[in-house]
Amino acid sequence: MMGDYLAFAAVQAPEPGTTTTATRWGSATGWRTYSPEEVAQSDVLLRVENLTKRFPVNMGFRKKAYVSAADGVSFDVRAGTTVGIVGESGCGKSTAARLVLGLIEPDSGTIAFEGVDVKSLSRKRRRELRRDMQMVFQDPYSALNPRMSVGDSIAFPMRVHGASKDEARERAALLLRQVGLHPNHASYYPHQMSGGQRQRVNIARALALNPRLVVADEAVSALDKSVQAQVLNLLTDLQEELGLTYMFISHDLNVVQYMSDRVVVMYLGQVVEECASDELYEQPLHPYTQALLGSVSGLDPDQPPGPRLEGEIPSPIDPPSGCRFRTRCPEAMPVCADQRPLIREPRPGHFVACHLFEEGDGHAGTTSSGPAALSPALAM
Ligand SMILES: Nc1ncnc2c1ncn2[C@@H]1O[C@H](COP(=O)(O)OP(=O)(O)O)[C@@H](O)[C@H]1O
Ligand code: SF4
Ligand SMILES: [Mg+2]
Repeated sequence: MMGDYLAFAAVQAPEPGTTTTATRWGSATGWRTYSPEEVAQSDVLLRVENLTKRFPVNMGFRKKAYVSAADGVSFDVRAGTTVGIVGESGCGKSTAARLVLGLIEPDSGTIAFEGVDVKSLSRKRRRELRRDMQMVFQDPYSALNPRMSVGDSIAFPMRVHGASKDEARERAALLLRQVGLHPNHASYYPHQMSGGQRQRVNIARALALNPRLVVADEAVSALDKSVQAQVLNLLTDLQEELGLTYMFISHDLNVVQYMSDRVVVMYLGQVVEECASDELYEQPLHPYTQALLGSVSGLDPDQPPGPRLEGEIPSPIDPPSGCRFRTRCPEAMPVCADQRPLIREPRPGHFVACHLFEEGDGHAGTTSSGPAALSPALAM
């Protein structure tokens, strides 16, 4: 997995009161569209670049503030692999998922699917793209219509996309088998099934239109541990069988490690570290990742416990200047309050945004094994 080059750059948008010399990742004018040859070479299915999203919140009489839910979020997802996104609740994981799926619009930044900026697509192609990207949600019960039979729920997206009743019914039966249920379950209603079975139904429904990318947002968080393992194994088997690409989101580091080839660690709307899954757990570099790992029990009984995560997450309405983690970081230095840390690559394919790694290699906003490693042609 060390050879994976999945690119990451927490591209640095200057914050008010913050000095940074960061530049954009990519060309000065923004993202570029790849030729089909370049995409074929790169193997990148999804590229998220510098996504920013702020939500307005009402602060009382005529007072408005903004929640910074995503701030310069960038990562790539290679076809056929799983990228895990991990971080505490409220760090922007679901916002990133909703942006990728087009459920909300970014304030700025780019999402490219197979090298093509989704903003540049025709309406027709955008509709097709919705088929290519599907989501499995956290709560398997509320994600299903309680008044619809399981078979109808799975058939619904196919019917919407023009399949006949018989075609949809036949495929629903096949999908039920594929997710480890019996075709007879088609006549069940959600309340007649267990949580694990319902999540299998959700997975079947997500697969109905033959997607390329499946975004699983806390997909097993509501399930018991033993059922979690079964559903995770199912997802892994389906990935192999169908060549799926996953964006796997969870606050649970153990689950993310189990599932992912690469992991993106988020804190308060920003990506702070990204690398191969094994490496993240063996040699985490960012103090936040180290603290997250220190807070997880049972990863490795032979390892001495690392630093623990102390304190509360600051408000995303008024995040700390400079490094957003500085109010909880045991290593914080004066520079951390003044400047947002630039992205560095202290080890090949291992990216971190922290002032502790600002010496030596790396340069503002780009990663040497990021786009450049795809092929010279992609490294604008
Ligand atoms: N529609 C919204 N309106 C206002 N704030 C929102 C909205 N959606 C998310 N947020 C805020 O954005 C931040 C990130 O939320 P979210 O992406 O759901 O985090 P996560 O999935 O990591 O728990 C949180 O502070 C959350 O309260
Ligand atoms: S930049 Fe400073 S405050 Fe932020 S994680 Fe690194 S050492 Fe800690
Ligand atoms: Mg969430």
